[in-house]
Amino acid sequence: MPIVGPESLAQVCETLLSGRAVALPTETVYGLACNALDPSAVALVFDLKGRPATNPLIVHVRDAQHAASLAGDWPHEAELLSARFWPGPLTLVVAKGTAIPLIASAGLGTVGLRSPAHPVFRGVMEICGLPLAAPSANRSGSLSPTTAEAALEAMGLPDLLVMDGGPCAWGIESTVLDLSSGTPEILRPGPIGIEELEACLGRRVEVGGHGASPRSPGQIGLHYAPRTPLRLADRLALADVGLTFEEPSAGTQIQMPADPVRYGAMLFASLRVLDSLGARVIVVQRPPQGPAWAAVNDRLLRASLR
Ligand code: TXA
Ligand code: MG
Repeated sequence: MPIVGPESLAQVCETLLSGRAVALPTETVYGLACNALDPSAVALVFDLKGRPATNPLIVHVRDAQHAASLAGDWPHEAELLSARFWPGPLTLVVAKGTAIPLIASAGLGTVGLRSPAHPVFRGVMEICGLPLAAPSANRSGSLSPTTAEAALEAMGLPDLLVMDGGPCAWGIESTVLDLSSGTPEILRPGPIGIEELEACLGRRVEVGGHGASPRSPGQIGLHYAPRTPLRLADRLALADVGLTFEEPSAGTQIQMPADPVRYGAMLFASLRVLDSLGARVIVVQRPPQGPAWAAVNDRLLRASLR
C-alpha cells in the first residue's frame, strides 16, 4: 500500500535516509520530500516532478536554530519572523550556507527555509534528523495536492510512499518572503498576509515576484493549474462548470465560502473535482480584491494563464 499511516514512520525515515523521496503532509499542501543535504536525492525530486532545474526547492527545518545553521546569514528579521510565525506557513529566503547543495537552490546564492507545523512532517524530521527539501507533491505546473490520495494521483507513481496526515488545514502554499536583499519582499502570497508581516517587522514589505522577476522562478507563467482551461468571470452562467459564491445552478458548480481562509482550504480540492469532469472550461467567479484574498487570487490568476 503506497499510502501509509503513522505506523510506517520507520519505513519512511529509512526511505529518506537511503536517498529516495516520500510524500508527506504539511499544514499547507502535501510535499515530495527528500534529504536536502544529498544532491542526488534532490536531483531525483526534480526528476520525479518534471521540475525545471531553475526553480529552487524549499528546505524544511525543525526550528529557527536549525534554519540559522543552514543559512549563510540569518538576519535579525528572520529571527523576528520565525519567532512569531514558526512553525507555520511562512518561507524565508536568506543567503544559503554551504551544507545545502546548489542543485536544491537552483544555483542561487539563497535558500528558502520553512519550519512546517504538521505533526507528521515534524515527526519525520525528528526521527530522521535531516532537513527535508520538499516542493509540492505534484507534477510541475499542476494543482498542489491537499490530501494523501491527491498526492499519489498528482505524482502518478504507483510505488511512491505517501504518508497520510489527513486533509491540509490551509490548503494553499506558504507565503514566500525574500529577506536576502534590502527590503523584505513577498515572492508568493500565502496564508501569512502582508499586514501581519509588516506588523511583526515594524516596517514596509514589498510585493514582488510577479511577471518575469528572476528572484521567484516558481512564479513565472502558468502554475497551480488544472488540466481543464480555467477562466475567471464576474458570475457563472446557468450551465457553467465552476466555482461560485452563489447558490449553484447546476450539479457541476461548487459553492465556495465567502471567507478567504476557508476558500483557500477548499480551492485545490474543488478544482481537482471539477478537473475530473472533462469539461471544456472551468469558470471561477472572481473573488473580492484586497490583502485577505491575495493568496487565492494569485493562484487563480496563475491557473488561468494559458
Ligand atoms: O507550503 C509550501 O511552501 C509547500 C510545502 C510542501 O512546504 N511547498 C511548496 O514548494 O509550495 P514549491 O516548490 O511547490 O514552491 C516553492 C516556491 C517556488 O515558487 C520557488 O520558486 C520559491 O518557493 N523559492 C524557493 N526557494 C527560493 C529562493 N531561494 N529564492 C526565490 N524563490 C524561492
Ligand atoms: Mg508547487
